[in-house]
Amino acid sequence: MCGIFGIVTKDDQPLGPILIEAAKRLTYRGYDSVGAATIRGEKIDLRKDVGRVDDVAAKYDFAEMTGSRGITQLRWATFGEPSQVNSQPHLDSDGDLVGAHNGNVVNNVELRQQFISEGLTVRSQNDGESCVHAVERYINKGYDFIDAIRLAYGDLAGDYAFVIGRVSDDKLYAIKKGSGLVVGLGEGFTCVSSDLPSILPLTRTIIRIQDGEIITLWAGRVELRSVKDGSVILRDPETVTETMDAVQKGGYPHFMLKEIHEQAQVAREVLHMLEGSSEVRTVLEKMRAARHLYFIGCGTSYHACLAGAVYFAQIAGRAAIPVLAPQFVPQYAPAVNHEDVGMFVSQSGETKDVLNALQIANAKGMTSFGLANVIGSTLTKATAGWLPLCCGYEISVPATKTFTNQVIAFLYMATRMAGHDTHQLEQIPELMEETIAAVAPQVEAIAAEINKWNDLYTLGYGTTYPIALEGALKLKEITYAHCEGMLSTEFKHGPLSAVSQGYPVIFVAGPEDVPLILSGINEVACRGGHAIAIGEEDARLRANANDVIFIPKSNPYINALLAVLPLQLLSYHMSVARGYDPDFPRNLSKTLTVD
Ligand code: G6P
Repeated sequence: MCGIFGIVTKDDQPLGPILIEAAKRLTYRGYDSVGAATIRGEKIDLRKDVGRVDDVAAKYDFAEMTGSRGITQLRWATFGEPSQVNSQPHLDSDGDLVGAHNGNVVNNVELRQQFISEGLTVRSQNDGESCVHAVERYINKGYDFIDAIRLAYGDLAGDYAFVIGRVSDDKLYAIKKGSGLVVGLGEGFTCVSSDLPSILPLTRTIIRIQDGEIITLWAGRVELRSVKDGSVILRDPETVTETMDAVQKGGYPHFMLKEIHEQAQVAREVLHMLEGSSEVRTVLEKMRAARHLYFIGCGTSYHACLAGAVYFAQIAGRAAIPVLAPQFVPQYAPAVNHEDVGMFVSQSGETKDVLNALQIANAKGMTSFGLANVIGSTLTKATAGWLPLCCGYEISVPATKTFTNQVIAFLYMATRMAGHDTHQLEQIPELMEETIAAVAPQVEAIAAEINKWNDLYTLGYGTTYPIALEGALKLKEITYAHCEGMLSTEFKHGPLSAVSQGYPVIFVAGPEDVPLILSGINEVACRGGHAIAIGEEDARLRANANDVIFIPKSNPYINALLAVLPLQLLSYHMSVARGYDPDFPRNLSKTLTVD
C-alpha cells in the first residue's frame, strides 16, 4: 500500500529520528522497502534499501540525517521488484529534486519511455520515480513549481499521492489523487503523510486533503491550491481526539470493517491497473491458446477461482477448471502438459498448498500465472507472470477486499477474452459503495435476529454459488458457527432435513435465477425455516422470503460481486455480537505456510 511522510522545519535539524519514528508508525500498512531523504541547503542526503524499518535505518544510520526538510517512504512493491534502486524516495536526473509517492501510476511504463526519450535519467522501474520526472520535465521547461506539479498531475494516470522537494528552497510540495493524504500543523514545523499515525505523535492539529489539491508546506504555514485552476483553497484545521488504535483502524472498531469499506477504492485501483497492464495481454493470449485452463487456489482464493470459471464460461464461452490446490496434485497434475495454462490465485502468495501445486505444474511444463496481493511473494517469483491485486495490506484474517479484487480481475479477464468493452466495469466501485450504504443497517438487524443459531446455510446458483460458499466461509471463520455453503438446488437432496422453526437459510439470488431460487425459498419457508434472500429488488423475493436484503441493480456478473458484501457484513456483526474479535479468529492464521 506504501506510506509517505514529509516534514518541513525552520532551520536545519536532526530529522533522522523523526523520520524513523514516522516510518515505524506507518508499518501497519505493510511494506518491503524503506527510504529517507533530507534536504540541507544545496545537498540531498538519500538513504534507502529493502528491509524492515529498524534494519534499514540502523544499516544506513538514518538517525544522523539532518536538514530543514525530510521525506520518508515505505514501499509495498507494485512496479518493479523490491530492490534498493526501486526503493523510494527518488531523485530527478541531476539530483536537485527528491520525492516519493504512495499508490499506483498506471501509465508508468509509457511515461518511463517518454522520460528516457526526452533525455531524463531514469534509474528504476518504480512509478514513484515517474512522479519526480513528471515534475522535472516541466521545471526544465521553465514552469514554476506549482504549475509543474499541476501539469504532472495531468500526465500521471492512476491513484496516488506524492511529496516532493528541491534543494535551495524552504518548502515541500504534496499532491493527492485517489490515495490518502493528511497535513499536520505544529510549533515551528508542518508535515504531511498518507495517514494520521505518523502525524499524531507530533501534532493533533491537522487538515485532511481532498483529491485534486496541491499543498505547499513551509515551516510555519501551509497553502492549499486547486490543481484545476491553481486557485487558493481555504480550509480550517481540525483537532484529532481519537486514540492511536482507533486511528490505525481509520476510526473503525476492527480492521475487518475498515477493509470491507476499502473495497470500492481498491476495486478502482485494480481496474486501473488491469487496464494499463501489458501482462494481461500476455496472460489472455496464453489462455486463449491453452488446451485446458485451471484456476487454482485455497480458501477464499479458491472461491474466487470458482467465480472466475463461471465468468469465463458465461461471458467468454471458455471452459476453465476451478480446483482446490491440494486436489490439483492428485487429480489433475498427472494429466497436465505444456499445452495447459494455470492461474494460481493467492492473497499472500505464500500458501504452501498452492506453492506445492505450482511446483508440480511447473515441473510438468504447464504455463503458470499468478494473481497475488503480496508482490515479491514466492508465488510471484515462481510463475511465468503475475497480476497484482492492488489491495494494499490486508490485516484482518478473514479476507474481504482481496476476494473482491480477485473476482474483479477474473471478470475483467473474461470480459477482455470475450472481446467486450471493459469500460462497463468502471461502475463497479460506485455500486459497491451504494451496496454497503444500502444494506448495512438491515444486515446488522438480521445478524441480531439469527445470531442464536449455531448452524445455518448459505445457498447460491450459477454466478452466486461461489458467493454462497465465500459467505459461508466468512461465517465459519469468525462466528465459529457451522455454516455450510452449497448449490441451492442440492439443498433438497438432504440438508433440508435440518430445517426447523426459525432455522436460518440464506439464498443469494442472481437476477436471472430468481424463479429457481424461489422454489428453494419456499421449500424452507413452508417448513418453518427463516429464508433470507439477497438479490436485486424483486416483488417475488419480497413476497416469498422472510427477509430480503436488496442490492443495487447491475448485471448477473456484477450482482454476484455485490452480493458478497452483505455476507461479509453479516459475519462481521454476528462475530462482534458473540464477543469475538473478527480480525483474529481463534485457531486460524492469515497465511498457512504448512501442508
Ligand atoms: C488461510 C486463510 C484464509 C485464506 C487461505 C488462502 O486458510 O485463513 O483466509 O483464504 O489461507 O490464502 P491465500 O493467501 O493463498 O489467498
